[in-house]
Amino acid sequence: MKVKKAVIPAAGLGTRLLPITKSMPKEMLPVINRPVIHYVVEEAIKAGIDDILIITGKGKRAIEDYFDRNFELEYYLRERGKERELELVREISEMVDIYYVRQKKPLGLGDAILHAEKHVNGEPFAVLLGDDIIVSERPGIGQLVEVYERFNAPVLGVETVEWEAVEKYGIVAGEEVESGLYKVKDLVEKPKKEEAPSNVAIVGRYVLTPEVFDALREVKPDKRGEIQLTDALRLLVGNGRSMYAKTIEGKRYDVGTPEGWLRANVELGRLAGILR
Ligand code: G1P
Repeated sequence: MKVKKAVIPAAGLGTRLLPITKSMPKEMLPVINRPVIHYVVEEAIKAGIDDILIITGKGKRAIEDYFDRNFELEYYLRERGKERELELVREISEMVDIYYVRQKKPLGLGDAILHAEKHVNGEPFAVLLGDDIIVSERPGIGQLVEVYERFNAPVLGVETVEWEAVEKYGIVAGEEVESGLYKVKDLVEKPKKEEAPSNVAIVGRYVLTPEVFDALREVKPDKRGEIQLTDALRLLVGNGRSMYAKTIEGKRYDVGTPEGWLRANVELGRLAGILR
């Protein structure tokens, strides 16, 4: 079955970016003059996805407004003959079909994904976390969709990280079956460096299949009371489900931290010719 739907969890509180995220969704932070989530939606569209579900939460309404029509602004721009700007704002509301569902309590990424079950309706689906912007010739999520289509099994986007950084990520233990392609044997969420089975880290891109929902219902919350997606994936692998991990080609910016966000602005600003 083709991957036509994507889920973008955007309900997180953005604590790593406080205080700005006190009154502004982290997904709306600008990289040049577009919010982070615009790049993520574009990546999905480039991979052939035409249906996007955004999981929102408290304080996230700016995301809906951004992708919606704004007739007042359009009228204002038309009156003044600002055709280029008019096209810019219209384009955004016509990019793709976007749906929203609200996570009422911050119970973690796994719980956010569970909110997508009805919308996904038994199909395979892509997941893109708004913390990462991936700049590459082939869209990051598209690279995973290609692997999904070969094996008909869930695929995780990964990157080899410094050992010092393993405790920030879900870590994959796998067998490298082709260059940059792993058959997943086990996964562990944010292990200590000494306990990590590898330094192959999950970045915020996945192609999942609907069986993940039952697994999410089955796993216990972690010590912070959050349901972890990694734990549900681990359960699936433990039950014999085949799963792959693919090194995403391209440059990844972790815009969920001040340093990564700043770097993305500087480097994308250079690429766009705005900075020298
Ligand atoms: C989440 C996942 C983690 C993954 C990471 C990628 O963690 O739980 O497995 O490696 O995203 O960005 P978070 O960064 O939301 O704490």
